[in-house]
Amino acid sequence: MNKGSSDRMKVGIIMGGISSEKEVSLESGRNIYSKIDKKKYDPTSIFMDSDGSLWEIPVKLLMRNSTGDIEMDLEDEAKRIPYEELKRRVDIVYIALHGKYGEDGCLQGVLELLNLPYTGSGVLGSALGMDKYTSRRILAMNGIGVPKTVAVSAGEWENGRETILKSIEEEVGLPCVIKPTREGCSTAVKKVVSMEGIPLALSGVFEFDTVALAEEFVEGTEITCGVIGNDSPVALTPSETIPTDDMLSLEDKFLYGQGENKTPARVSDDILERIQKVAVKTFEALGLKVYARIDMFLRGNSEVVVLETNSLPGMTPSTVLFHQAAASGITQAGLIDRIIQLSFEAHSKKRGPL
Ligand SMILES: Nc1ncnc2c1ncn2[C@@H]1O[C@H](COP(=O)(O)OP(=O)(O)O)[C@@H](O)[C@H]1O
Ligand SMILES: [Mg+2]
Repeated sequence: MNKGSSDRMKVGIIMGGISSEKEVSLESGRNIYSKIDKKKYDPTSIFMDSDGSLWEIPVKLLMRNSTGDIEMDLEDEAKRIPYEELKRRVDIVYIALHGKYGEDGCLQGVLELLNLPYTGSGVLGSALGMDKYTSRRILAMNGIGVPKTVAVSAGEWENGRETILKSIEEEVGLPCVIKPTREGCSTAVKKVVSMEGIPLALSGVFEFDTVALAEEFVEGTEITCGVIGNDSPVALTPSETIPTDDMLSLEDKFLYGQGENKTPARVSDDILERIQKVAVKTFEALGLKVYARIDMFLRGNSEVVVLETNSLPGMTPSTVLFHQAAASGITQAGLIDRIIQLSFEAHSKKRGPL
């Protein structure tokens, strides 16, 4: 262990990054920095800039309004850390990144090569969790309900628009939702009510990913449920998302962060238990580790449909995961501590990459 002036464990919290979710990541990172138990852990804030370089940043930079504000002063006020040096400076990396390159197995792969433990799922679990199409195919194989989905690659769309429109109409129907396979924060997610709306929605997606999904619009209650653990994962208390009117507006983007959460979701105990079972089964089917948040819909008050998984869910102060943990008597510091301990456990048992 890297023991400096104290015998606390050194935790490098990486935040910011290259994805469309970098601002949320900054909020997650600084919340983890402020809530982590300082008697047990010695945290360092590490900012990933938009080129993917790492910088150790002082608290005054950590408190800036945006990642752009931080980037402006990195040269003058921060210390650049080459990746190879991470191992000498920290005992574990707390990944507070979300989205591309942080949540999808890329950074996890680099940390595996450095032989450095990190929080959350491994390379494959992260990559599967991020890919809405591949994960759905695996979940369906495991008997877990998922939305009817047609995947459309940018190349296929260019070469045969009519065939694709026909398969969306026949296999998915209207209204449908068009979205990128691997994004977050509702980036380029659109509800489409007429076939004429599809080309524009698809071209919006292709700015972010090479594969778009056209999926059935699921009518029901949106539910989200955290899961923690490794070999015997357990579900936290499921929450319900209460949408604002805008969320269901026609041919519109779903706004990130719109809607309120209620924990526990207002459904019977039987249904709560069913939701928890599906959440745990999803976690296991995708090989997720340590913690994740599974987003679902409850359709017709009985059918659970998994919409997507988040292998590095938001850790901002007011995030739903903390409400769910609180319902089980776990504080923010307590959840962060469990995540670190479970991550050490996962890395100590692995043979090869996690
Ligand atoms: N098929 C769908 N049916 C109904 N609502 C959807 C559907 N897909 C997405 N939404 C709404 O849009 C939001 C964002 O979509 P999601 O697939 O979770 O993308 P992201 O990964 O960007 O969060 C969801 O939380 C939900 O409110
Ligand atoms: Mg989502």
